[in-house]
Amino acid sequence: MLSLAKWSRSNASTAPPPASATLSSPGRSGSLSEEDYDYIRTLVYRESRINLGANKRELVNARLGKRLRATGACSFADYCRLLKSEESGELIHLIDAISTNHTYFFREQAHFAFLSSHILPLYRTGHPLRLWSAACSTGEEPYSIAITLAGHYGLPAPNWSLECSDISNRVLAVAAEGIYDASKLQNVSTEWRQRYFLRNHDGTAFRIRPELRARLAFRRLNLFQSSYPFTGAFDIIFCRNVMIYFDRTTQEELVSRLTRCLRPGGFLLIGHAESLAGIRHGLTPLKPAVYRRPEH
Ligand SMILES: C[S@@+](CC[C@H](N)C(=O)[O-])C[C@H]1O[C@@H](n2cnc3c(N)ncnc32)[C@H](O)[C@@H]1O
Repeated sequence: MLSLAKWSRSNASTAPPPASATLSSPGRSGSLSEEDYDYIRTLVYRESRINLGANKRELVNARLGKRLRATGACSFADYCRLLKSEESGELIHLIDAISTNHTYFFREQAHFAFLSSHILPLYRTGHPLRLWSAACSTGEEPYSIAITLAGHYGLPAPNWSLECSDISNRVLAVAAEGIYDASKLQNVSTEWRQRYFLRNHDGTAFRIRPELRARLAFRRLNLFQSSYPFTGAFDIIFCRNVMIYFDRTTQEELVSRLTRCLRPGGFLLIGHAESLAGIRHGLTPLKPAVYRRPEH
């Protein structure tokens, strides 16, 4: 947790590059048997549709070490027994531990440039613009969207709102707090740091400005839950770098669900490593990883 002591207007500050993400170390409880792995991967698929291939056993073994320690399970078989009991509430922690949450500010910068230069000018100022960051992880994506909107419309912001969701409570807690180590802001210009962040006393941490933070609503949402809790459709949906974890059938189902959430003429942005090629969908491709729902 970053210190919250004394936040002030952000001044330029450089920081060392981020440490690479580490996996939690395995518990001292033996390794994951094929049978337990099969049970876990079926459960993960059923709950989140994350498709863990047969070759991910070591990764899962490593990622669950922390959960074994936290729950006091003395073996993976013991941990699987815990998962089988609904009252344990462990399933949500399993998904938290398994999901890959890597993200960063202004990831796939071309999307933010396109948003600013081509999408936003289509909407007159004051039009109630609704956006959704549909797998927002620790918040860098939605805050990059918010900064782009604030750069376009100014602050205090006019009539836009941004829903942010993820299946993982752990990442949502980080996102909702909106505090980042300076090393995470490498892609944020000095000018934008000053304009949209507060910095702590020694410039090692930055906090998104409360007036910008207040425009974002965070909630836990499984993209495959029976229905979505939103009233009204979206103008723009970012659903990036999550489809890669799903199989083709699941991707098709997801795109169809997201399309139904878009207003006619609305935009869907997916990750650059993802593609709708080979998927049945009713969207018009505009450029790599940018699609539009037809007006009629
Ligand atoms: C790699 S991150 C992508 C973050 C951001 N969109 C980006 O492109 O940088 C993928 C996120 O998808 C979330 N996720 C995985 N399965 C999900 C599901 N079924 N419903 C909602 N979110 C899911 C994970 O928890 C993770 O935070």
